[in-house]
Amino acid sequence: MPSLRCHWSLHSCCGMSRMTVRERWRIYRRLSLMFFLAVVTVTMVQRGNISTGLQFEMERQHPQPEAVSSGARQKRGVYLKANSFWKARKPKQEHTTEPPWTMEARGAQTWDVTSANCTANLNFSGTEWFAGLEPNFKQFLLYRHCRYFPMIMNHPEKCQGEVHLLIVVKSVITQHDRREVIRNTWGKEQEIDGKRIKTLFLLGTSSNEVEKANHQKLLEYEDQIYGDILQWDFMDSFFNLTLKETSFLKWFSTYCSQVRYIFKGDDDVFVNIQNIFEFLGDTGMGNLFVGDVLFKAKPIRKKENKYYIPQALYNKTYYPPYAGGGGFLMDGPLARKLYGASETLDLYPIDDVFLGMCLEVVQVSPIKHNAFKTFGLVKNKSSKLNKEPCFFKSMIVVHKLLPPDLSHMWELVNSDLVCAQKVEIL
Ligand SMILES: *[C@@H]1O[C@H](CO)[C@@H](O)[C@H](O)[C@H]1NC(C)=O
Ligand SMILES: *[C@@H]1O[C@H](CO)[C@@H](O)[C@H](O)[C@H]1NC(C)=O
Ligand SMILES: *[C@@H]1O[C@H](CO)[C@@H](O)[C@H](O)[C@H]1NC(C)=O
Ligand SMILES: *[C@@H]1O[C@H](CO)[C@@H](O)[C@H](O)[C@H]1NC(C)=O
Ligand SMILES: *[C@@H]1O[C@H](CO)[C@@H](O)[C@H](O)[C@H]1NC(C)=O
Ligand SMILES: *[C@@H]1O[C@H](CO)[C@@H](O)[C@H](O)[C@H]1NC(C)=O
Repeated sequence: MPSLRCHWSLHSCCGMSRMTVRERWRIYRRLSLMFFLAVVTVTMVQRGNISTGLQFEMERQHPQPEAVSSGARQKRGVYLKANSFWKARKPKQEHTTEPPWTMEARGAQTWDVTSANCTANLNFSGTEWFAGLEPNFKQFLLYRHCRYFPMIMNHPEKCQGEVHLLIVVKSVITQHDRREVIRNTWGKEQEIDGKRIKTLFLLGTSSNEVEKANHQKLLEYEDQIYGDILQWDFMDSFFNLTLKETSFLKWFSTYCSQVRYIFKGDDDVFVNIQNIFEFLGDTGMGNLFVGDVLFKAKPIRKKENKYYIPQALYNKTYYPPYAGGGGFLMDGPLARKLYGASETLDLYPIDDVFLGMCLEVVQVSPIKHNAFKTFGLVKNKSSKLNKEPCFFKSMIVVHKLLPPDLSHMWELVNSDLVCAQKVEIL
């Protein structure tokens, strides 16, 4: 290395013409060797032949390139300018005595489901109440016992080393434009103040044969480029969103022992990562689950509604408290507990309600925070808030923005936008 530096200075002070062919050859040889060593190192790290501990040593010795760190510094600038809005409003949380990194008992170290082998359960198909159900509920009930499916695309390496925030986004094969814009905006993998953010998309397979044939190949290319797609071999349907939830919890419990927080959301929301960081602060909170929480929501009994639930499937008056699936935040250890809880319950066709049921089992109350807007806003399209960047700047999640609007709003919020104060809503 030192002699190389000498050559560069020779180059700069004496000009290219003075550099002999032999010297150039020597530089070339050294660069080739360095490149070769880098490739070998990267390959070994990817194969897991270097322990994570060593990997971290290496990362510490080689700081991020200047471009990245200056970006982070810029972010920090914005971060510092923000007032104490978040800290002040951070809900009081009882501190649990267990340290945040307590490991729950861990099962398999890899995804252990290799065959789908799921046959319809005809146990109750002859009953009267079953015959009276709508076709989608019949299908749901016939396959309700089929919980885990093989993985078509997997990325265990995403959770290697310490990850501060794992962003997971529910998506479907055809919505590649939404994934693209998320990768370029709030889902960008980065490091803020030395805390790593990683992003993954959760997908099933297409229910439509044509789509399956044409899009699956494209999805594989997309995954080769970005390496951020988890795909399970179950049909992506509205009622199967719960499978996506349970599959993710199992996947997380299998691979991600060193993830601090999880943000899980839809692919059509606006998310403000800086505010998430500001909200989380430095304090360790156990059993954190925060979002747009509904308390005492009633099951919808009108058949035309997307969320209609027949009495035969749920006969209580209220749902347990649950957070809108559009976007919520939880800590890693809690996700592992929720995985355990999910295995004790029958699947429920509405994924966010199901997670509320799991929270009830582990006796954790979700926290409602006004910066999570996963319900409602869209109803009043004329509301000025829909176009107001200072509003988005003060939020954590806003439902719902499609790619062009999301890009545009992201640029506005991350420009030199000056807002008098973070807008206080409600
Ligand atoms: C290390 O690499 C070798 C091949 O170079 C492979 O056979 C072995 O399984 C790897 N070890 C681990 C722990 O992955
Ligand atoms: C699939 O399930 C059936 C019935 O439960 C069982 O008899 C069969 O061996 C299973 N096949 C595989 C490949 O697991
Ligand atoms: C169907 O009923 C039988 C007998 O009651 C039971 O053993 C089996 O587990 C049931 N099948 C499913 C998928 O629940
Ligand atoms: C969920 O996916 C499984 C596997 O693809 C499928 O058999 C089942 O019909 C799906 N359920 C619903 C309700 O779409
Ligand atoms: C409600 O559903 C549960 C479980 O499905 C059942 O055990 C109970 O008898 C039902 N209660 C009423 C009032 O229908
Ligand atoms: C929608 O928002 C506009 C502007 O904020 C307000 O004037 C109007 O009353 C709202 N309409 C409803 C139905 O809430």
